[in-house]
Amino acid sequence: MKKCEHLAIIMDGNGRWAKAQGLPRSAGHLAGADNVRTIAIAASELGIRYLTIYAFSTENWKRSKDEVSYLMKLPAVFFEKYMQEFVDRGFRINIIGEMEELPASTAAVLRNAMARSAANTGLQLNIAMNYGAHREIILAARRYAEDVKNGIVQNDIDEEGFERYLMTADMPPVDYLIRTSGEQRISNYLLWQIAYAELCFVPESWPEFTPEVLRRCMEEYEHRDRRFGGVTNE
Ligand code: FPP
Repeated sequence: MKKCEHLAIIMDGNGRWAKAQGLPRSAGHLAGADNVRTIAIAASELGIRYLTIYAFSTENWKRSKDEVSYLMKLPAVFFEKYMQEFVDRGFRINIIGEMEELPASTAAVLRNAMARSAANTGLQLNIAMNYGAHREIILAARRYAEDVKNGIVQNDIDEEGFERYLMTADMPPVDYLIRTSGEQRISNYLLWQIAYAELCFVPESWPEFTPEVLRRCMEEYEHRDRRFGGVTNE
């Protein structure tokens, strides 16, 4: 079986889903957060080790004040409901993104979730919060330059060396990227890490993305011919 160690998801379409039900956008985000739990469990059962979900991008600050404020409060609601279950299931919560710029209460909730699950060895659920790939690469380059300046490393970095400065240090590269809701864009997500990822775009909105749809996507992944720039060997 073709191994998918690291699955990344762009959870798009919460707003359109809510509108279609005659609900406010916030109801779509709430349904979306509940679906994170459902899909994390399904992914874990499918043998996926790392699941990286795009919860809030560096561009999402442009949304209305009310929507940003709702999205910042959502982690507290989410972990209040599900943290105990995540701990029981051995999930490890990790955050990627610039947490310093989040409201202090949001950052505290996220740090607490990471601390409570730090020793777990099951599925690693990476939540991208105030994350943007350009920003990640710039911050990595700055830290590397600083290390060179301080004589800690030579100016001879290679790909593996640079990866250690990214927010995904110590994680395998993304094998498969799924985006829901029909849009076919990457939206500044994990640009370094998806260099050889397979891409999958599904029409379902994120709240409609069931474990069954995930299984269909994974079946499709199994039929992809991953060559990593080489020739086929299957
Ligand atoms: C994109 O849909 C979705 C977001 C910007 C937010 C995603 C957040 C969640 C699913 C909640 C996850 C939260 C936690 C704490 C795990 P959209 O609103 O852009 O949809 P639209 O394109 O239909 O308007």
